[in-house]
Amino acid sequence: MKFFIDTANLAQIKEANDLGILDGVTTNPSLMAKEGIKGTEAVLKHYKDICDIVNAPVSAEVIATDFDGMVAEGKALAAIDKNIVVKIPMIKDGIKAIKWFTDNGIATNCTLVFSAGQAILAAKAGATYVSPFIGRVDDGNWDGVDLIRQISDIYTIQGFQTQILAASIRNSLHIVRCAEVGADVCTCPLDSILGLLKHPLTDIGLAKFLEDAKGLK
Ligand code: E4P
Repeated sequence: MKFFIDTANLAQIKEANDLGILDGVTTNPSLMAKEGIKGTEAVLKHYKDICDIVNAPVSAEVIATDFDGMVAEGKALAAIDKNIVVKIPMIKDGIKAIKWFTDNGIATNCTLVFSAGQAILAAKAGATYVSPFIGRVDDGNWDGVDLIRQISDIYTIQGFQTQILAASIRNSLHIVRCAEVGADVCTCPLDSILGLLKHPLTDIGLAKFLEDAKGLK
C-alpha cells in the first residue's frame, strides 16, 4: 500500500518526505485555505512548491463544477508539473471530465466518493484513483473500511485498474485496516502516519537495551 500525505502544509510534507516512505500528496480546497493561500496565482505556485518537494503524484482539486470549467482548470493544473493529478468531484460533469482527462492521458483522482456505485462509475470513466472518504462515512455510523473492502472486491472481480485511495483517514488504525482490506493507497494526516510508530513495549524495550548497553562500554 502506498502512503500519501493529506495536507497542503509544506513543513509537514517535508517531514513525511524525509522519512523516505512518502509516495504522494493529496490536497483539497479546505486544506489549501487552512494554509492561508489566496488567489489563483498563489494556489498554482503552492502546488508547484509541493511538487518541488515530492517527486511523486500530487492531487490538485478543481473548483469548477461544469465540464468545460473542470477541463480548463484541470489543464492549467496539469501544466504545473508532470506529477499533478487532477482531482475531480463525483458529480455528473465530473465523470465526463474524468473520461476527457483519461482520453487525453492526464491522471485523475475522483474525490468525494461515499458508495460502491460511485466507485464503479469512477472506474468506468478511467480514473487513476478513486477516493472514498472513510472517516466521513464512519461519522454517519457506517463502516468506512468496509466500503474500501467492498470496492476492492468489485475492482478485483471486474478487473478495474483504478487505484483505491482511502481518504479522510482519522487515525493510525484506519491505515492498518485499509491495508488489510486491499486499499492501494492511504492518504493520511502526518499524525496518523507517525502514530504507526508507537508501541509502549518498543519504548520499554529500547530503554532496557540502552541501560544494558552502558555495561558494554
Ligand atoms: C483527500 O483527498 C480528502 O480530501 C481528505 O482526506 C478529506 O479528509 P477529511 O474528511 O478529514 O476532510
